[in-house]
Amino acid sequence: MNFNIVQEKYIDETKQGEAFAIAEKPQNSKKLFLESYGCQMNFSDSEIVASILNEQGYNTTLKQEEADLILLNTCSIREKAEQTVRMRLSQFKNLKKEKPNLTVGVLGCMAERLKTKFLEEEQLVDLVVGPDAYRDLPNLLKETDGGRDAINVILSKEETYADINPVRLGGSGVTAFVTITRGCDNMCTFCVVPFTRGRERSRDPHSIIKECVDLWENGYKEITLLGQNVDSYLWYGGGAKKDFKNASEIQKLTAVKFSQLLDMVATAVPEMRIRFSTSNPHDMTTDVFEVMAKHKNICKYVHLPVQSGSDRMLEKMNRQHTRDEYLDLIAQAKKIVPEIAFSQDMIIGFCGETEEDHQMTLSLMREVGYDYGYMFAYSERPGTPAHKKMEDDVPADVKQRRLAEVIALQGELSRKRMQGYVGRIHEVLIEGTSKKNENQWKGRNSQNAVCVFDKLEGQKLGDIVSVMVHGNTQGTLLGTTVQSVSVEVN
Ligand code: SAH
Ligand code: F3S
Repeated sequence: MNFNIVQEKYIDETKQGEAFAIAEKPQNSKKLFLESYGCQMNFSDSEIVASILNEQGYNTTLKQEEADLILLNTCSIREKAEQTVRMRLSQFKNLKKEKPNLTVGVLGCMAERLKTKFLEEEQLVDLVVGPDAYRDLPNLLKETDGGRDAINVILSKEETYADINPVRLGGSGVTAFVTITRGCDNMCTFCVVPFTRGRERSRDPHSIIKECVDLWENGYKEITLLGQNVDSYLWYGGGAKKDFKNASEIQKLTAVKFSQLLDMVATAVPEMRIRFSTSNPHDMTTDVFEVMAKHKNICKYVHLPVQSGSDRMLEKMNRQHTRDEYLDLIAQAKKIVPEIAFSQDMIIGFCGETEEDHQMTLSLMREVGYDYGYMFAYSERPGTPAHKKMEDDVPADVKQRRLAEVIALQGELSRKRMQGYVGRIHEVLIEGTSKKNENQWKGRNSQNAVCVFDKLEGQKLGDIVSVMVHGNTQGTLLGTTVQSVSVEVN
């Protein structure tokens, strides 16, 4: 699996994480095995960690047996995700017996959530580091080298790792992630992210643009601007948004909001394809769509999680918008950017969800006509408002049945959307060789649909080619390269 394919937005939490390696410095003698779980943000953070450790004498490796340091960058979003990491940790037990000097560390959301409990419960973990403490890794490793356990789970209001040039792990050199915000202030009642990733903060736009320009100069052709909620990006000379007591204080400063940042990035790298994730219906404004319409290089695709189609559920989830407001936003987007595609996240079986609420979710999906979806049975997370105040009362079998219905409907909708792309010419960025056939390329169109087509002489990775789509499966477009372009989809 290639983590650069954005469609695989969240890695299947029942599967082992992914290890990537290319961080190399010839003078480095130590080996780091770094495995990532969860969302794109974690993969992006792993690139920062690899960069910091590259300066500390570590090159990355794909072979856990030859590692001096094993780090798992973990996810807490659902219980399953945590179970998978625990199982993985137990596999390192034997390795540690054979190699007493091996250090095993846990990074990311589980580290933040469980803190010292990790050192107490999981005897084989030597190092616990939360998402805002990666700069401290060199010091923490000095502790573990001295035979002591080490932990830093302090969350920061400022840390954006703005000045750290991430080592690009595992990609094909064509697509890259650029983090623009960290943390989340939204407090959806089901969500552990505000507790594990802390307060929301935005990265200096100058450093974002510099990173994008550097990527272009290094041959990258597509970037994804990343944040838990990109629409609430707001920069005004540093500091956390909430540090300013009133709006007039903010007014005095030169502020940059998300639509402006997007405009600036699209202008700075006019031939780079630009995507962004994740959008939030409460914080997204129509000026983002205006900017999308203005720039040909911004892909016409928005991942816009909604979680439920029922107002009752949306309120209990503290999503701060109604079903109608969401549908309005989608309608405006379609007006401003007619070729736009949407994907969703849904939580099925949240506290008190009735059959009627469930039907509202299905009808909302039909109304929007999503290209893709990421659907999850509700998993209660310790410490969240829902865990404290609500009852996880939808029986597991009901959750599973409703989930199956939602997944089946999304399958139908995806197939229909893919069929709509047939018979047209699409601009596709070549991202790699198809998994199923080495004589075929795979890439994505502007709407993020995966497209496979026969390789032609002279074509190479990173080319943007015109592909006539003549068929489809539920999630893939099948096409042929055409030489002359008469119609363009984006
Ligand atoms: N804004 C974030 C959301 C992170 S969580 C982003 O960048 O995508 C990703 C998705 O996991 C959410 O949209 C939600 O659909 C799902 N999720 C979050 N908490 C959950 C829980 N307790 N149980 C089941 N699914 C959950
Ligand atoms: Fe979680 Fe809601 Fe933020 S889903 S990441 S609290 S927008």
